[in-house]
Amino acid sequence: IQAHPFVINPQTGIVYPEGNEKLQRTAEFLASYIKEATGITVRTTTEAARKNSIILAVDGSITNKEGYQLEVTSENIHLNGGSESGVFYGIQTLYKALPLTKNKQVSAAIPVGTVNDYPRFGYRGFMVDVGRHYFPVSYLKQIIDMLALHNINYFHWHLTEDQGWRIEIKKYPKLTEIGAWRDRTVIGRNTEEYDNTRYGGFYTQEQAKEIVKYAGERYITVIPEVDLPGHMLAALAAYPEMGCTGGPYEVCPRWGVFEDVLCIGNEKSMQFLEDVMAEIIDIFPSKYIHIGGDEAPRTRWEKCPKCQARIRTEKLKADKNHTAEDRLQSYCMTRIEKLLNSKGRQIIGWDEILEGDVAPNATVMSWRGSAGGIKAAQLGHDVIMTPNDYCYFDYYQSEDTRHEPFAIGGFVPLEKVYSLNPTASLTEEQAKHILGTQANLWTEYIPTSEQVEYMVLPRMAALAEVQWTQLEKKDYTNFTTRLAGLIGLYRRDGLNYREPFRQQADSTATEKK
Ligand code: ACM
Ligand code: ZN
Repeated sequence: IQAHPFVINPQTGIVYPEGNEKLQRTAEFLASYIKEATGITVRTTTEAARKNSIILAVDGSITNKEGYQLEVTSENIHLNGGSESGVFYGIQTLYKALPLTKNKQVSAAIPVGTVNDYPRFGYRGFMVDVGRHYFPVSYLKQIIDMLALHNINYFHWHLTEDQGWRIEIKKYPKLTEIGAWRDRTVIGRNTEEYDNTRYGGFYTQEQAKEIVKYAGERYITVIPEVDLPGHMLAALAAYPEMGCTGGPYEVCPRWGVFEDVLCIGNEKSMQFLEDVMAEIIDIFPSKYIHIGGDEAPRTRWEKCPKCQARIRTEKLKADKNHTAEDRLQSYCMTRIEKLLNSKGRQIIGWDEILEGDVAPNATVMSWRGSAGGIKAAQLGHDVIMTPNDYCYFDYYQSEDTRHEPFAIGGFVPLEKVYSLNPTASLTEEQAKHILGTQANLWTEYIPTSEQVEYMVLPRMAALAEVQWTQLEKKDYTNFTTRLAGLIGLYRRDGLNYREPFRQQADSTATEKK
């Protein structure tokens, strides 16, 4: 027998517990989703539930804090979360179940049934590089809305790069006066030609706090990244005395990995990092602070008297696996880790931090494939998997690159993203160290919001299932069927998603010619 669906109409009430501000906000989110999707205005209320209500509550018997139970009958919807965040994920599910009928009807039906849902991983991340290209606060909020729609709970904000320093640091004003602006940008894939146009921007500390708050209201933690000791040319352009050669340096107009990095032998550079971190932890309440560690060439340190003196005084020794300069990087990372640990924070570093003495409490972010993450998990470190061959959303989505907007290279189609299993080839014990997974959006070739959306959507939907769905329930064919609904939402919101099955359409078109 087909049960009557629950019908949302102008008399529907969304009920939240009196005094629970978080669930009040969630109730208001749901009312706004219903309005956007169907055009129907519903009430939010603390009045005791009766018929035609959507009742939000926390239920301590749901063991996963982010889990929820959604029970839809023809009379009411009961949405219980393991905590308020669970309720938030429940309303995301309802959002996706709403028919998109704006202004076409006065009621909307939700089919009856029960859903018990909870995430596979506690860490579900997405990284945006604002160093290569800058995106304003208003657009970052739109990105955060996309993350919320996909149940992503960490926004990794890559804030510093060779090509631009993007976060205000009050003790070092030149970081943004000088370091946030480049005079020119290379054209194409590192040609010898430049556009000779000044480019840049930065976030004030107040703006960064606004992002933290906006994300927090959507159960998303902002993890700031200050990438050190490499990818520091913008900071060196502002404070050249912090480099091994003393400069002069330019805020970098090209893409790549550059030899000029922080001088670890110079106590001023180390003091700089400590001062920057002091301000960063005041802005960002996140337990995790990402301190980079990727792509730091050792060439300047090898020739720098100050760095060589540090190697001697700290008794840093080469062995068959590591050079003394590798250990100099470890010295730097460990020193910052100790400082952050003393303030109750934990560091995340890219997998290069395994090439020395790994900072003892570090969480390793595996990007050069999964090997680094596997090794780190075997060593007992916590790991976030972001292997470039599955998770780099700056890579092409089609092999037919002539019909794609210009990108950095690579090939990560939708199905490849979906196929990632972050715990593959680990024992059960080691798999416990895999906190989760994230995708990274490096923006060398992504200058606009349209291009961001093109590269991210719908690959983010595939990522979301890698992050959320239990392994045994993953099914790509089933995913592609459900994707149509999500694409309806992208279209409604004017997002510039890539048509996922365009390749087939293209080849048919070609055949016709
Ligand atoms: C990285 O892609 N350099 C972490
Ligand atoms: Zn040096």
